Amino acid sequence: MTKSGKAAFLALAGLAIGVFAGSAQAVDAPSVIKDITFTEKDGQSLYQATCQGCHMPNGMGAKGAGAYPALAKNENLAVGGYVVTMVLNGRKAMPAFRNMMNDDQIAAVAGYVRSHFGNNFKEAVTAKDVQEARAAH
Ligand code: HEC
Repeated sequence: MTKSGKAAFLALAGLAIGVFAGSAQAVDAPSVIKDITFTEKDGQSLYQATCQGCHMPNGMGAKGAGAYPALAKNENLAVGGYVVTMVLNGRKAMPAFRNMMNDDQIAAVAGYVRSHFGNNFKEAVTAKDVQEARAAH
């Protein structure tokens, strides 16, 4: 390798490491838990095993290294399909749970957050709703 060729190679290698380090930093909780499947069946247990790590036990959310919105008294939860889609597919720093929970589990945890923490949305979310939302994406 010529001297200038070597310099160019080192510069490129440095760049690659820089890019890698940058993307490694951007990786957070979602990738850490991607291989887990949950065995809990009821909404409360599922919430405690998964959601509360970010949205907090009281559903009030948190602000720190990232912003985790409150689920408590949250009008966005009025639309059951919205909650189902969030849990299935995730968004930004929220992981997708589609491979970690089955339709019954997602319906249960969606129903739980929509009927706790000051939320009182009556219209139930069913496993069939989840199945349809899953197929749509
Ligand atoms: C690793 C952290 C994390 C976990 C675990 C997590 N969430 Fe989230 N959640 C987030 C973040 C971050 C957002 C905001 C996403 C955005 O900025 O678009 C969010 C947004 C939401 C929203 C939308 C709120 C709104 O006001 O629009 C709902 C609903 C929600 N999460 C429900 C859940 C449920 C139910 C669970 C458990 C099955 C869960 N989340 C697990 C981080 C998490």
